[in-house]
Amino acid sequence: MNIEEIIKKRHSVRSYTSKEIEKEKIDILNELINDINPKENLHIQLIINDPDVFDKYGGFILQYGKLHNCKNYIALIGKKDDNLLEEKCGYNGEKLVLKATGLGLNTCFVAGTYKKKYVTANISEDEELVCVIALGYGETNGNVRKSKSIEEVTDSKEYPDWFEKGLEYALLAPTALNQQKFKLNYLGDNVVEAITLTGPKSKIDIGIVKYHFELGAGRKIIWK
Ligand SMILES: Cc1cc2nc3c(=O)[nH]c(=O)nc-3n(C[C@H](O)[C@H](O)[C@H](O)COP(=O)(O)O)c2cc1C
Repeated sequence: MNIEEIIKKRHSVRSYTSKEIEKEKIDILNELINDINPKENLHIQLIINDPDVFDKYGGFILQYGKLHNCKNYIALIGKKDDNLLEEKCGYNGEKLVLKATGLGLNTCFVAGTYKKKYVTANISEDEELVCVIALGYGETNGNVRKSKSIEEVTDSKEYPDWFEKGLEYALLAPTALNQQKFKLNYLGDNVVEAITLTGPKSKIDIGIVKYHFELGAGRKIIWK
């Protein structure tokens, strides 16, 4: 699969089968995590076979957004005093999501519908758990969902083709509650203005959106 196919194939999946993730795939994901962590000053960890995090969430009343039969997750962790922590977790978390999708796995970013206290990752005093990414073999590959239009996420009227492709990929990015609360404006050369509109977890969202945009644009963007 090329990156466009991977981006189009990815949907959030909340129900998983009992099929275990093969060791080779775990190794590939850990390799990427080990590459990201020192470069980004993050402490991302892949946790296998730890179902309580999702199983113990909710109970009878809180069924919306509950994850079913998910035993694995990626914990997105970094320094409490890092001003860009949430955005960095979004950007690098999505790198891992797309890598996992390319390996035939299913995922779901989860910032709300899980039990934080059951996360067994190593988190030091000066670190914070931002959110997790559920991971495994889904019952299905998920569904195409509603999306904003290009005109709704940019105020720019004229722009090159690569900017439009960037927007197309950005609109395929996962965002909390599918809120898509961002605007991206073309400022010339490779410079793009990213505006985060207020909404729950929108700082994580903007990191994810920037990663998708750069893949679509096919270039490193200077973000303003
Ligand atoms: C930062 C973030 C937090 C999320 N938190 C949850 C969550 O707590 N529970 C859940 O079921 N889905 C969660 N999601 C998944 C979104 O609902 C999903 O990405 C969105 O509806 C778009 O659908 P798609 O991922 O299939 O494109 C979250 C997504 C993001 C990006």
